[in-house]
Amino acid sequence: MRIVFVCLGNICRSPAAEGAMRRIAPELTLDSAGTGGWHVGDPPYGPMQAAARAHGIDLSNLRARQFRADDFDAFDLIVAMDRQNQADIEQLRPAGNTTPVKLMAQTDVPDPYYTRDFDGALDMIEAAATRLLAHISRTPDR
Ligand code: 4NP
Repeated sequence: MRIVFVCLGNICRSPAAEGAMRRIAPELTLDSAGTGGWHVGDPPYGPMQAAARAHGIDLSNLRARQFRADDFDAFDLIVAMDRQNQADIEQLRPAGNTTPVKLMAQTDVPDPYYTRDFDGALDMIEAAATRLLAHISRTPDR
């Protein structure tokens, strides 16, 4: 199972989601990307890395990249952090592709780059990652 987590900048929420999921499901193929390109090549934002480190999650080796249309074919599941991300991702769907684009949580994950609540975002992301793993473990053809 190959999963890509997607947010806007790929320096806060989606790298945190990738790191949280990797800790509980190291056997999966995981990646993250941003719908925007401003931070391509950058490591995760310092305060996000610090919050993750405090939860035992090391994000230091990740580097931002932009989500692209061929990710629809490269992954089995695309997980967006909020509804705007989901809509922006859908704009790039290749004709005939049926890869699901799901939301990380039942509500949008607030962007800590703006709210500054990095710990709260991480708590929400870790809980959502646990739910996601339980869900895909129940789904055949994993
Ligand atoms: P993220 O947060 O989508 O959780 O990575 C953001 C980080 C940077 C920007 C936007 C969102 N930015 O516009 O620079």
